[in-house]
Amino acid sequence: MTVERIHTPTEMRARAEAWRCAGKRIAFVPTMGYLHEGHVSLLDEGRRRGDILALSIFVNPTQFGPKEDLSRYPRDLDGDLAKAAAAGVDVAYVPEAAAMYPDGYQSYVTVEKLQDGLCGASRPGHFRGVATVVLKLFNAVQPHVALFGMKDYQQLQVIRRMARDLDLGVEVVGMPIVREADGLAKSSRNAYLSPDERLRALALSRALVSARESFEMGERDAARLVDSARATLHLTPGVRLDYLELRDAASLEPLHGRVVGPAVMAVAAFVGTTRLIDNQLFEP
Ligand code: PAF
Repeated sequence: MTVERIHTPTEMRARAEAWRCAGKRIAFVPTMGYLHEGHVSLLDEGRRRGDILALSIFVNPTQFGPKEDLSRYPRDLDGDLAKAAAAGVDVAYVPEAAAMYPDGYQSYVTVEKLQDGLCGASRPGHFRGVATVVLKLFNAVQPHVALFGMKDYQQLQVIRRMARDLDLGVEVVGMPIVREADGLAKSSRNAYLSPDERLRALALSRALVSARESFEMGERDAARLVDSARATLHLTPGVRLDYLELRDAASLEPLHGRVVGPAVMAVAAFVGTTRLIDNQLFEP
């Protein structure tokens, strides 16, 4: 079975309006393609939650910095469409950049505060690009529910807040991180890693597991949890830490002193030239 492709916002919106008029519930999984099991878990959940399952594949230029990997971001449209068909996707929305950002484009969405720090500090403008494209995708696909992976934890919080603040009427669902058997979080960017880098990349999940174990044994001091995770990470040569922080799980405010409410430990590190992220939730 082949999945129908739609290429323009106008066509996508017309289709979505017809579904809505017919009383259909639309579930939506926005992606940049190069689908892996993490994406498939979102599609499976979307299939359960909607009458119609829509997927978008769009490598969004506005969320990449000038020195980032936009031009070499992995792409495999045929492979993605085969996986989409197997997951029961009804429609793949695959717009061209020129249809999303025509000449003269100048409107952007900024979610203040939540975009500061963590990935927002290392990737200025990234969340403005994410929020903008997700709003545009929502406007075209008109979903009732949209599913995002929790690996991009800050992204999930930014999108949730945008949906709430701008009264989008879209339920934003975060889905658990899908990992390889050895703990590495699934990511399209793992494709960049050499076998040696792939081994070194395990330092991220190892650092988070060591902090989780300390937490489970009763450690509640934020600085000690962070220090022990950083120490684990620094033990691995060839891994350059971007940040490792413990933040309030909802507001993403930095945590000091004792951890008394839900917290997230988020990490970003370069393995060779590849920047990877991962995180772990702590719920006292
Ligand atoms: O997480 C992603 O793949 C992207 O940031 C998203 C949400 C599809 C926006 O381009």
